[in-house]
Amino acid sequence: MKISLQKITKVFFKAGKNAQEVKAVDDFDLEIPDGQLVGLLGPSGCGKSTTLNMLCGLEEPTSGKIYFADQDVTALPPELRGVGMVFQNYALYPHLSVKKNILFPLENLKGKAALSKKEMENRMMEAAKLVQIIDLLDRKPKELSGGQQQRVAIARALVKLPNVLLLDEPLSNLDARLRLQTREEIRKIQRATKITTIFVTHDQEEAMSICDQIVVMNEGRIQQAGKPQDVYDDPTNLFVAKFLGNPPINVFAAKIKDGKLYLGEQMVMAGYDIADQDVIAAVRPEGFVIDERGPFRVRLQSVEIMGREISVVAAHPACQSDTFRAIVQNEQLRDHQQDNIAFSLKKEKVFIFDVSEESRLDRR
Ligand SMILES: Nc1ncnc2c1ncn2[C@@H]1O[C@H](COP(=O)(O)OP(=O)(O)OP(=O)(O)O)[C@@H](O)[C@H]1O
Ligand SMILES: [Mg+2]
Repeated sequence: MKISLQKITKVFFKAGKNAQEVKAVDDFDLEIPDGQLVGLLGPSGCGKSTTLNMLCGLEEPTSGKIYFADQDVTALPPELRGVGMVFQNYALYPHLSVKKNILFPLENLKGKAALSKKEMENRMMEAAKLVQIIDLLDRKPKELSGGQQQRVAIARALVKLPNVLLLDEPLSNLDARLRLQTREEIRKIQRATKITTIFVTHDQEEAMSICDQIVVMNEGRIQQAGKPQDVYDDPTNLFVAKFLGNPPINVFAAKIKDGKLYLGEQMVMAGYDIADQDVIAAVRPEGFVIDERGPFRVRLQSVEIMGREISVVAAHPACQSDTFRAIVQNEQLRDHQQDNIAFSLKKEKVFIFDVSEESRLDRR
């Protein structure tokens, strides 16, 4: 089902002695095409859970409208929205078996929606099969691993055959390996069911790897939305550029003079159609090419071997942090002991930002 969020704002009022307003979500405007897996991404407190809570009907927007297909659902109670939600803490009922946990939402369907025992059993089995927990149906939640509990929570959200699936940090309690495995499973389940799904995470790599579209948020506002690769390759502002990418992008104090880019005092690139000014330049770690005659000369700090590639840790006075990181092919650097090293830069991996607004100046 297509989802449309139109200028959604949510303000929380805190009463009492230190009365204050918190704008948790600010003018959130987004269309989600039918059947997509969308990643909602941003630092803690940026409004991700609040956005999901408004989509499932637990919170009402202060202003703005939410549409599912062509229906205005802004004021519709949660049980009439056809939404399945897995909460940030995915609380299962501890005293119920896995099977009863999954059946629970079906047993509470009223009136016309009510199902026969047989129908409920069938639906439960289908959901359990999908997330591969058939062998665990008689266990209690405390007898399951974190990943198994997470899958039970997903089955419980799927069992009502929702039109929309909302997952709030569903992988937060898993170790690295299980996280990787479970995120692929979520992708598989989403592909199989084609349910429009919104997946909240603060892990950029996780969102980039499984989502059709990512939405990067900060302080309640959408910073940028688009295909993961497009957002990575063409960020609108410094926040987005810094938020995506591991190792993170390297940030330098820079200037533009006569269409040339200077990192500190070193001219590294020509051909910019930007007026003379101080700027911020950010370079992706893969944007450095080791080149004896390259224009960017820096102090070599250390070399970390990562197998096929190496991470060159270097220092430069214009860099905003003590050191920066270049990722290059292993064979490009023979001498790991030299004091200095020279790079040329790949233009498409260098982004230029305005100093005060931190918005992109060289948008392609
Ligand atoms: N019921 C509430 N009353 C007052 N303020 C709230 C309430 N719920 C959330 N907030 C505030 O709204 C902002 C957004 O919170 P939200 O839970 O949406 O963030 P989040 O992006 O999900 O963060 P996290 O990654 O930590 O889960 C925060 O500043 C939070 O303190
Ligand atoms: Mg949250």
